[in-house]
Amino acid sequence: MVSVFRIEGGSPLRGAVAVPGAKNSVLKLMAATLLAPGTSELMNVPDIEDVAIMSELLRRLGCEVNHVGSTITIAVPHRPDHRADYDLVRRMRASICVLGPLLARCGAADVAVPGGDNIGSRGLDMHVDGLRKMGAHVKNEHGYLLAESEGLIGAQVFLDFPSVGATETILMAAVTAQGESIIENAAREPEIIDICMMLVGMGADISGIGSSTLIISGVNSLKPVSHRVVSDRIVAGTWAVAAVMTQGDLTISGVSPQYLALPLEKLQTAGALVESGGDTIRVRMNERAQCVDVVTLPYPGFPTDLQPQFIALNAIGQGAALVTENLFEARFRFVQELARLGADVRTDGHHALIRGREALSGAPVEATDIRAGAGLVLAGLVAQGSTTVYGVSHIDRGYAGFVETLQGLGAKIERVED
Ligand code: UD1
Repeated sequence: MVSVFRIEGGSPLRGAVAVPGAKNSVLKLMAATLLAPGTSELMNVPDIEDVAIMSELLRRLGCEVNHVGSTITIAVPHRPDHRADYDLVRRMRASICVLGPLLARCGAADVAVPGGDNIGSRGLDMHVDGLRKMGAHVKNEHGYLLAESEGLIGAQVFLDFPSVGATETILMAAVTAQGESIIENAAREPEIIDICMMLVGMGADISGIGSSTLIISGVNSLKPVSHRVVSDRIVAGTWAVAAVMTQGDLTISGVSPQYLALPLEKLQTAGALVESGGDTIRVRMNERAQCVDVVTLPYPGFPTDLQPQFIALNAIGQGAALVTENLFEARFRFVQELARLGADVRTDGHHALIRGREALSGAPVEATDIRAGAGLVLAGLVAQGSTTVYGVSHIDRGYAGFVETLQGLGAKIERVED
């Protein structure tokens, strides 16, 4: 028996929806707690499968992890274990984010190599090169990255590409290294700002936060912290696209509108009425959307994690659009599933040409990753007839209470055992 989502298309989404903390931040913040013995507290934590996997990983490292509502406490021992096993890493590639803090705290880290996934090959070369520059010895043996150091030394690290993961690994290694580290061409994603703010709360000395040059002066030790996780801009963006596609009216709260500036502008180009104020965005749509071109780039460019949702939007738009994917080479795999719903999409390398159709028609489809899954559900919400989405465990990894929230907004969707 597997869970599937059954969707009857055609209902506009209306109402209010609150956005929880960001998956792509909380996992790294949980790893960062390893840097200080004692009990740290994270608030606004989303109730998603990846948080459960990271909790399990931290427990195996000797931490005590407790969840109460949307708050988790993590009690980190004076001597954490330093091995992240393959059985967890293969379930969640973001487990690699324990590499930097374990090396900094324990002088050693044995972390299973995650391998590729359904969106691309996802190298780790920049993580490893950065740690080596800081004096670590890192080898890849029997499927594990084995890192060792007798004390990390601050270094200047130039990233070939502003990788989110590599910036985080090097940052977490640098905060307690001896002397100054500079990360040039650092990622500027809101989730990087979030981890910097948490590390500063723990006593780290970081300047240039939010810019592409992070300057870190190593401190001797860090202390536990209480920190609120930044809101999930990708979940918020998914709801915004859903409002436009279903020609509905959603008020999305608990968000930072400035972190979604470009996707919201694209939705306005598509014809949506978008109003933002404080931590709320209202998105309304009264007509069929115009197709909109999208080019994914590191922040503040258009987020790759909203690309499948925008392809779904274009699939029922007026006109045609070119979507260019610059981060993950295999992310277009899902368009074959979208084509099962009648979408007209042609891909060539990292470009996808979408010719909008007046209607999609419901069919069984398979989610291949989290965001592709979200894109397929959105398409199912507007397709004529019934759509069954398989592979929903991917969606559960990143969207808390997705089905229940959609039901509350008027969608005809249910989770059934198939
Ligand atoms: C994170 C997000 C993911 C998001 C992505 C880009 C998490 C858990 N995941 O992934 O949802 O889509 O940022 O915003 O936060 N690369 C290398 N070598 C490296 C590191 C990266 O070649 O050492 C390549 C990757 O293969 C990929 C590109 O750089 O093609 C971007 O990767 P990166 O920014 O590191 O993304 P992640 O941290 O993996």
